[in-house]
Amino acid sequence: MSRLIVVSNRVAPTQEGRPAAGGLAIGVLDALKETGGVWFGWSGEIIGESQAPEIEKQGKVTYATVGLTRRDYDQYYRGFSNATLWPTFHYRTDLSRYDRQEYAGYLRVNTTLAKQLKAMLEPDDIIWVHDYHLLPFARALRELGVSNPIGFFLHIPFPVPEMLRTVPPHEELVKAMCSYDVLGFQTQADRQSFVDYIERGGFGTASDDGMIHAFGRVLKVGAYPIGIYPDAIASAAQQFADRKQVNTLRDAMRGRKLIMSVDRLDYSKGLVERFQAFERLLLASPNWHGRVSLVQIAPPTRSDVQTYQRIRQTLEGEAGRINGRFAQLDWTPIQYLNRKYERNLLMALFRLSQVGYVTPLRDGMNLVAKEYVASQDPEDPGVLVLSQFAGAAEQLPGALVVNPFDLTQMAEALERALSMPLPDRKARHADMMAQLRSGDLSTWRDAFLVDLRRVTTAASVTRKA
Ligand code: ADP
Ligand code: F6P
Repeated sequence: MSRLIVVSNRVAPTQEGRPAAGGLAIGVLDALKETGGVWFGWSGEIIGESQAPEIEKQGKVTYATVGLTRRDYDQYYRGFSNATLWPTFHYRTDLSRYDRQEYAGYLRVNTTLAKQLKAMLEPDDIIWVHDYHLLPFARALRELGVSNPIGFFLHIPFPVPEMLRTVPPHEELVKAMCSYDVLGFQTQADRQSFVDYIERGGFGTASDDGMIHAFGRVLKVGAYPIGIYPDAIASAAQQFADRKQVNTLRDAMRGRKLIMSVDRLDYSKGLVERFQAFERLLLASPNWHGRVSLVQIAPPTRSDVQTYQRIRQTLEGEAGRINGRFAQLDWTPIQYLNRKYERNLLMALFRLSQVGYVTPLRDGMNLVAKEYVASQDPEDPGVLVLSQFAGAAEQLPGALVVNPFDLTQMAEALERALSMPLPDRKARHADMMAQLRSGDLSTWRDAFLVDLRRVTTAASVTRKA
């Protein structure tokens, strides 16, 4: 059996086996723990000059991590990845900026990482690269003579061509993406945006079997929605129900309903609009005063990128304003916590709540939406209020799906969720659990890897013939 080599910018920190907050780290770690393999990427450290990877084995996973120099971090991570690609791919061209030197740094780091990985590769290895930091990684490996199968999965949305074209080197990036053997997207809509870019730009054609012929290459382009392990989450939520923090919140919420939100503190998550829609609920329905609280857990992320500093300030202002307007001596409408929690504890908090309030303005998948559903007590489940712009909305029709730009609609959905009768809640929950079970994390991983093996085997047979 060939080794699986996973490559991503963020490698889950290995201390206590607890990954960073973020869908990629959670998904990849769970998937890799079963198959075993190597996980290569950034250690999270800033170092003086590039060094060989540090190797650490834990169970079936070998972690190979490298530091980034300050210049690399600034240009590749903070710059082109998170100040150009991230906002544009989340449809926020207003927050995106382009700097040629940062782009050069992005390409340089991709090449450096490719060289470091190449030194570790064996001929039978299968390489699976993740996310927007590494769009040109396969091209860099190919230029070094690597001919192993290389697949790529994008965890975030892929924008429509008009949006993508605002990134000046868009064509070079898409051409580089065609050096992969399989390209995976979260949704059919994301996949279609990629195909539209290729076909409308006259760069190639797509065929009915999911293959694309473009820039002189043939590759598979598919939608592989990332999943979770719903039953494992359900039992974790139950097991942690008696933890001290859970009991504290339960006591504080006696006689009150609880709306829960958990996100990285990112402008793509729609947190400001979410608070304002909650404010509308309180304005429209004074009967909820003192009877419902919103708990928003949002650990800061990418705090040295300016747009993230701004969203943090705005949100603090909004939480303070809304609380100042409605709070009573014994009731705080919004509890806003800037910290990470143990994942199982979060699941228990989800189970305690009556509403999961997940309303990103744009999101690749949004694992929190899936985790919320899985954490519920099937006999008395909470209701998911979910943005139509999360990839998860394609798969969770039992949610109350909202447009996060329509504050009144969101407030109405909250009202409906808080008052929904038990039979309706149970039916929606059962329906969503069935969906989560049929498309779990192993389905995602296996579907992608089967395609990667199949496509590359077919190509080598064709080459030999
Ligand atoms: P993203 O990848 O954009 O961060 P997702 O919703 O797909 O968004 O994934 C976030 C993951 O990080 C989820 O598995 C969630 O449980 C975890 N997470 C989010 N916030 C926290 C937090 N405050 N503490 C611990 N884990 C968190
Ligand atoms: O899933 C989206 C994602 O951007 C991952 O790529 C990333 O690991 C995570 O969110 C957290 O962001 P960062 O790695 O920048 O802290």
